[in-house]
Amino acid sequence: MAPRFWTALYALALGHAVVAAPQLAARATTSLDTWLASETTVAREGILNNIGSSGAYAASAKPGIVIASPSTSNPNYYYTWTRDSALTMKVLVELFKNGDTSLQNVIEEYINSQAYLQTVSNPSGDLSSGGLAEPKFNVDETAFTDAWGRPQRDGPALRATTLIDFGQWLIANGYTTQATQIVWPVVRNDLSYVAQYWNNTGFDLWEEVRGSSFFTIAVQHRALVEGSKFATQVGSSCSYCDSQAPQVLCFLQSFWTGSYTLANFGSSRSGKDANTLLGSIHTFDPEAGCDDSTFQPCSARALANHKVVTDSFRSIYTLNSGIAAGSAVAIGRYPEDSYYNGNPWYLCTLAAAELLYDAVYQWNRIGSLTIDSVSLGFFKDLYSSAATGTYSSSSATYSSIVSAVKTYADGYVSIVEKYAMTNGSMSEQFSKSDGSLMSARDLTWSYAALLTANMRRNSVVPAAWGETSASGVPATCSATSATGTYSTATNTNWPGTLTSGTSATTTTGGTGGTTTTSTTTTTACTTPTSVAVTFDLTATTGYGENIKLSGSIPALGSWDTDNAVPMSADKYTSSDHLWYVAVDLPAGTSFQYKYIRVESDGSIQWESDPNNSYTVPAACGTTTATHTDSWR
Ligand SMILES: *[C@@H]1O[C@H](CO)[C@@H](O)[C@H](O)[C@H]1NC(C)=O
Ligand SMILES: *[C@@H]1O[C@H](CO)[C@@H](O)[C@H](O)[C@H]1NC(C)=O
Ligand SMILES: *[C@@H]1O[C@H](CO)[C@@H](O)[C@H](O)[C@H]1NC(C)=O
Repeated sequence: MAPRFWTALYALALGHAVVAAPQLAARATTSLDTWLASETTVAREGILNNIGSSGAYAASAKPGIVIASPSTSNPNYYYTWTRDSALTMKVLVELFKNGDTSLQNVIEEYINSQAYLQTVSNPSGDLSSGGLAEPKFNVDETAFTDAWGRPQRDGPALRATTLIDFGQWLIANGYTTQATQIVWPVVRNDLSYVAQYWNNTGFDLWEEVRGSSFFTIAVQHRALVEGSKFATQVGSSCSYCDSQAPQVLCFLQSFWTGSYTLANFGSSRSGKDANTLLGSIHTFDPEAGCDDSTFQPCSARALANHKVVTDSFRSIYTLNSGIAAGSAVAIGRYPEDSYYNGNPWYLCTLAAAELLYDAVYQWNRIGSLTIDSVSLGFFKDLYSSAATGTYSSSSATYSSIVSAVKTYADGYVSIVEKYAMTNGSMSEQFSKSDGSLMSARDLTWSYAALLTANMRRNSVVPAAWGETSASGVPATCSATSATGTYSTATNTNWPGTLTSGTSATTTTGGTGGTTTTSTTTTTACTTPTSVAVTFDLTATTGYGENIKLSGSIPALGSWDTDNAVPMSADKYTSSDHLWYVAVDLPAGTSFQYKYIRVESDGSIQWESDPNNSYTVPAACGTTTATHTDSWR
């Protein structure tokens, strides 16, 4: 044992710098960390409960079908929306990619269900005549035929994005055949839809305004850009993506008013709307600069708009009264909202937080932060002496501003903590006057929003989508369209267990018969997907006693003591009662845990309450961490 301590003391004595272990630099655990550690478990479970057919609240839904909420009356949300489902499954794909392999089956069932739904004729049309933008279906995969705000053209784009994210994991792990034969045909239909119809009006994400919507246009641009890259990866191409993407971006510029982002053309409202916050977070590219053209989270446009949108809710909700600009408030969809009398929504309040966490990630990666005349008002609310200029990440001003932005973002999540049920459940809305839960219970999207906000808070970011080569705006915009290819996607022949690994990524494409090679982009700052965390525990044990680590996540046995992780005593001495174990854990994951003492007869003694909480670091370049405890 001596050498471990001796090395450090020796180095100090000689005046060498001891390299600080990452955990020493990590922030202290806050009450919000503790809440998130349990709430993320509730949210993951809340999502799985709402997916057929094994979800507790979705038993009558077909496999892979995501219901919006278990609520069947006042309001009846027991349907599946293409948008909500895609956004939800995107989160599960991210969790899967970060090591939650138990989600494989539900992701595959979702993809199968979407391949089938694409073929269901509905009031918007059939596969090749507009039916892909039908907003919602019955949970048994039949068409919903009552009057509704249709079509909604964000659905195909968001679904393509989710499937591409999974498809790229398949390619990176040696499953190019499945990406090519199962995923690509579904994606190709959706890309064909977007390329053909993006320049037509449709209903916005709140299903109320018929016009052109910022959120829809933004996510369509993203889908076409990454769709083109994915096409190449599976040995195909997407000329209709390439011809339309710049034009979609061109049109997107017209939503910028000069001081905020207009949510919709075709509406008489102010246009201040969480639609625009959601547009920025769902087109966030961790490798992008603070580009105004794509409204990246750290762009001046997105930050100025964040202020305008959030300020629009300060005076209209009793819940927010007296809270000054620069402090977090409860956020709704748009100030003119009258649905359930107009209230804050969990997912909108979380979007206000997530946009700021994304911006912090981008500044840290870029290594500086710029304030210009457009974003100055946003910064002044948080840091009164803010002035235009560029601040390097080594400057004190940078540290003060970034710390203020994080505190501001945490404030939004704390509002959600305050108004969620004590057992963690979240509905669609909470009352603007007393904060009580309102409208549909256990809203799937509320849980999805909690999980993405938590990941971004921990610097766990989604894959890049190619923004860096797609942010240039054409000199002139034109009203255009292109025709792609529609075909019924029939292959659902998944292999058994998918294993991650760097198996060959050069594979013969199934349908195209061409050879594709995927390349990994290296960036200056790589966020790890997993971190080897060593738990050092001081515990006095007797002969025959063993110590194990049990916790809320699958890697620690999900509280099942049979699956707890055994610890080692091979460094235990009479003067240093050390038990330890190193576990690979998904970066950024927050969880709860306790140590258990297993007696020689197999009986178990738990540590005393409360549960311990830990968040796996997710800082650039961090691949190991050590955490120290004493038995309680
Ligand atoms: C179509 O694109 C043109 C050029 O960007 C734009 O002026 C027009 O408003 C767009 N119309 C719709 C419905 O998207
Ligand atoms: C929380 O309690 C409500 C009712 O009191 C229940 O409907 C909901 O399912 C519970 N949520 C969780 C996560 O246990
Ligand atoms: C610790 O976590 C378990 C599992 O979630 C829970 O049942 C228990 O109530 C928690 N203990 C405390 C003191 O919060």
